[in-house]
Amino acid sequence: MKRIAVLTSGGDAPGMNAAVRAIVRKGIYEGFEVYGINYGFAGLVAGDIRKLNPSDVSDMIGRGGTFLYSARYPEFANREGQEKGIEQLKKFGIEGLVVIGGDGSYQGAVALTKLGFPTVGVPGTIDNDIPGTEYTIGFDTAINTVLEALDRLRDTATSHVRTFIVEVMGRRAGDIALWTGVASGAEQILIPEQDFDLEAVAKEIKQGRLNGKKHTLILLAEGVMSGDELAKKLREYDSDFHTRVTVLGHVQRGGAPSARDRVLASRMGAKAIDLLKEDIGGVCVGVKAEEIIYSDIVETLANGKHLPNLELYQLNKEISF
Ligand code: ADP
Ligand code: F6P
Repeated sequence: MKRIAVLTSGGDAPGMNAAVRAIVRKGIYEGFEVYGINYGFAGLVAGDIRKLNPSDVSDMIGRGGTFLYSARYPEFANREGQEKGIEQLKKFGIEGLVVIGGDGSYQGAVALTKLGFPTVGVPGTIDNDIPGTEYTIGFDTAINTVLEALDRLRDTATSHVRTFIVEVMGRRAGDIALWTGVASGAEQILIPEQDFDLEAVAKEIKQGRLNGKKHTLILLAEGVMSGDELAKKLREYDSDFHTRVTVLGHVQRGGAPSARDRVLASRMGAKAIDLLKEDIGGVCVGVKAEEIIYSDIVETLANGKHLPNLELYQLNKEISF
């Protein structure tokens, strides 16, 4: 293999640039030519591909977003788009591809793998919901961004003796809510992976007030329901919660990556190159117990499932009343 390419796809995540930088620099260090594909799978199909030099990734390690741009391109789920993508790669003489993205992007990588093109997945999403890894690139930065907002919200919640519902990202995954809930000392954490009884939640909030609590923070993953919907439902149990809703939205996806995400991205990007150097494709990179690992991407996606750490969920119940 002489020439490889990299693309970023799906929701952007802080640290994607650091991963691309590592792929470009380590790739060149190992004797590859490295090409960048703009706009994810959309750019792949359109042939929006260019050679990247070491200087193209200067100053990228600390920059949020992705300088290769990203796109949602559902057409790539069709065989026609996938074959066109491989045609473009062949036209440029590219023999291996690194896909940085979330579970949807991994499906694209699986499709290319099944068509015989050597592809390596690198997990980049703030949601931390990809099988085959304990942590994804961007998650650490996102939870620190959320935490900063929560500390501010706690100040104003206390001053007015209010209940704050904070809706955070995670359509199918509760990791952002779970980790930031524990880190902020939130009274309630509501995530899609864990059933809860709203009446019991309302009772606990009320009991907290009776015990003299001056604020209540509820961390709500967007996949459970919207913040407004939850506020409405809680009002059915008690109109006296002085509830306010904050939706943090895309603020969670931006900003400079944390030290942890930069290091994770650098290690995972370099691992992708090590694998391609050994002609290993059809795999995805991950981290487990601080070790960088890899696994078969088809098998991992078909049978693996990222589960939230429910010990954290239980811990929060034990220390946040
Ligand atoms: P994320 O990667 O963050 O989960 P998406 O779910 O939007 O984001 O997926 C990103 C892109 O991956 C999609 O826009 C599409 O181009 C590609 N993709 C998603 N699902 C599939 C699929 N089943 N087969 C092929 N490509 C897919
Ligand atoms: O997958 C990452 C993510 O940020 C989810 O947490 C969120 O639900 C979604 O992307 C938002 O997507 P969009 O940027 O297309 O609105």
